[in-house]
Amino acid sequence: MESRKIGTLEVSPIGLGCMNMSGGYGRGDDKTSTRLLNEALDIGYRFLDTATVYGGGHNETLIGNALKTRRNEYVLASKCGLFRDENGKSTIDGRPETIRRQCEASLKRLQTDVIDLYYLHRLDSNVPVEESVGALGRLVEDGKVREIGLSEISSDTLIRAHKVHRIGAVQSEYSLWSRTPETKMLDTCESLGVAFVPFSPLGRQFLTGKAIDLTHLPSTDIRTSNASPRFEPEAFAQNSKLLIPFSKLARDLNCTMAQLAIAWLLAQQNKAGNQTLIPIPGTKHIDYMKENAGAANLKLTPDTVELLNQMINEESVVGNRYNAALMASIDSEKDRS
Ligand SMILES: NC(=O)c1ccc[n+]([C@@H]2O[C@H](COP(=O)([O-])OP(=O)(O)OC[C@H]3O[C@@H](n4cnc5c(N)ncnc54)[C@H](OP(=O)(O)O)[C@@H]3O)[C@@H](O)[C@H]2O)c1
Repeated sequence: MESRKIGTLEVSPIGLGCMNMSGGYGRGDDKTSTRLLNEALDIGYRFLDTATVYGGGHNETLIGNALKTRRNEYVLASKCGLFRDENGKSTIDGRPETIRRQCEASLKRLQTDVIDLYYLHRLDSNVPVEESVGALGRLVEDGKVREIGLSEISSDTLIRAHKVHRIGAVQSEYSLWSRTPETKMLDTCESLGVAFVPFSPLGRQFLTGKAIDLTHLPSTDIRTSNASPRFEPEAFAQNSKLLIPFSKLARDLNCTMAQLAIAWLLAQQNKAGNQTLIPIPGTKHIDYMKENAGAANLKLTPDTVELLNQMINEESVVGNRYNAALMASIDSEKDRS
């Protein structure tokens, strides 16, 4: 795979979302995950995405154990400031002392001296972003972190944060059916020279054609009613109609739907042609991981990109990506209401 830049870091154009191996969409098994992580490096993935909160530390431990002898072969991204308390409740804490403590714990679990890209997972509404980013900047000065990232934030917050310390990357949801970053964030990233990392690039599996509606999902799955109105049965049935022309186009292009969804993202470079957008499809299946990497070889013509833009977009999709409560808890530009 060719490479793309995040500040001083060089990464593969497609990264590997590792959350899935520790939950979110059902938990993986560590033996398969260890193989998956090693085979991902073997076929050219050079960018792994994890976080303190994934599996309550399980995900960072898994990566640390599986890849301890291969640390110089990949760029490692993790996140702080979001965790589950002892009752399993999701908690946002962006205080400087928490960030430092969580970084030390991440380094230990990951069995490394330095995290290449360390994101603030969520903005803490009780802590000015300047304070949280100031703490991350001190971790850079101490050599524990190489680049700073922010996740699910608004353009205004990014601009404020960037004045305190150069931000390497912003990570937010972005895919054919989640277009909020197009309203402002992609332009802001371009003007500041910040890389953009789309999470959930497969629309939480919807765009692969293999997803099911939430009545058939276990309550532990993040797509259940708490999180994704788009997976409610009625909305899901409506949305599934969008996949009919999409799957036909994939067949015509001789690729899978997952590859087409990722290739569309890879084509969303800024106008100057800088290579700053790196999707991170997540999986716990080795065959999916290999299939997704294949999208790097798929070059879409401008006409095909435009056709896809018309086919699936925020207007044609029924339902928001998160429910109202979850939407209110994040700082990013608001999705349509
Ligand atoms: N910053 C944030 O707040 C945030 C939020 C969410 C995610 N993330 C990061 O972004 C990564 C990706 O996002 P995501 O996992 O939420 O969503 P995603 O990549 O859009 O979709 C993941 C879902 O698609 C399935 N899948 C993957 N490849 C497939 C293929 N080729 N064919 C059929 N199904 C396929 C996965 O199944 P299996 O898992 O069963 O293999 C899983 O159910 C995560 O792993 C995580 O690292 C960050």
